[in-house]
Amino acid sequence: MSELRVRPRRRVQSIQEYHPPLGGRGGLRLDFNENTVASSPRVRAVLGAISAEALTLYPERGPVEEMVAQQLGLQPGQLALTNGVDEAIHVLFSAFLDEGDELLLPVPTYTMYEVYASATEASVVRVRSGGDLQFPCERLMEAITPRTKIIAIANPNSPTGAVVARETLMEIAARAPQALLLVDEAYFHFYGKTVIDLVGKIPNLVVARTFSKAYGLAGLRIGALAASEEVLRWVRRVLSPYSVNALALACLPAAVEDAEYVEKYVAEVCAARAEFERAMDGFGIRRWPSEANFILIEVGAQHREFATAMHARGVLVRDRSSDPGCDGCVRITIGTREQMRRAAVVMRVVLDELKGVE
Ligand SMILES: Cc1ncc(COP(=O)(O)O)c(C=O)c1O
Repeated sequence: MSELRVRPRRRVQSIQEYHPPLGGRGGLRLDFNENTVASSPRVRAVLGAISAEALTLYPERGPVEEMVAQQLGLQPGQLALTNGVDEAIHVLFSAFLDEGDELLLPVPTYTMYEVYASATEASVVRVRSGGDLQFPCERLMEAITPRTKIIAIANPNSPTGAVVARETLMEIAARAPQALLLVDEAYFHFYGKTVIDLVGKIPNLVVARTFSKAYGLAGLRIGALAASEEVLRWVRRVLSPYSVNALALACLPAAVEDAEYVEKYVAEVCAARAEFERAMDGFGIRRWPSEANFILIEVGAQHREFATAMHARGVLVRDRSSDPGCDGCVRITIGTREQMRRAAVVMRVVLDELKGVE
């Protein structure tokens, strides 16, 4: 066979494939910040009733988009449904990031911002958080330049769980009128505070929401991008009209209408988070305050062994030690109180074991 003589773009040649550690996820899944129980039973009823004919049709996202926009208090043109927030980030970056532009990121933060930036010709400017892993507000403001084109802020942030005040976000948007401010509210439900009501009022504000976390629909891949109609008109030029599939579109209204189910799940997770935080304090483990459905803890030099030993005992956690400023840290998703009590028991055993081999 002759050799391939076609090379990808230079930028693509220099990046690594991103492999989330998904293989073999049996056990208690506290590694991907998913819903650890299930989606609303109404979603499963819709799924079970989908006809074979419905699958022959190209999906039509418009009516569901309008329904979700209304539910979020937006005008119909101010919301685009996407194949998860990941696609929302991808299309926003492809539509707006040109050569010479800068994507400004407080770090550590969600990995996919860098991945999608690397599919453009823009450069990434990273602003490190301090040891408290709180939002580096002043340093971020100082890093804004005329070339700043997008500022991406996860609020709450991952993997830290830290949050940014609404006033700070408004100040950033005002300081960088030449840039879009993407506020990624993937974990909104566990925090309860949003800036989505400012969409359309602040022209450069873009808000992302996912149905992967509190709603428990990560496998269906649905997210939403909320922005002014003008911003979304540009985004739609690079957005596939069929990227949100028919199953996701069929299920979404049922998920959104069952507000009580999500409220109950979120209340359970918040109670579990408080209880688990107390358990961590009892173990003498450093942790960072979190407003999301996970917490970041410092395990120390044995972070890898810790994650492996937890996995061996049926509890999956995520080693985040290679994130900037997260040396020795592990992120643990918060599920129900019952699940987190089990996790804490396993953790106690693993920590004692590791102490023995120090
Ligand atoms: C901050 C943040 N944004 C977006 C996502 C991805 O969301 P989706 O499943 O909708 O692509 C995640 C998933 O972990 C996340 O942590």
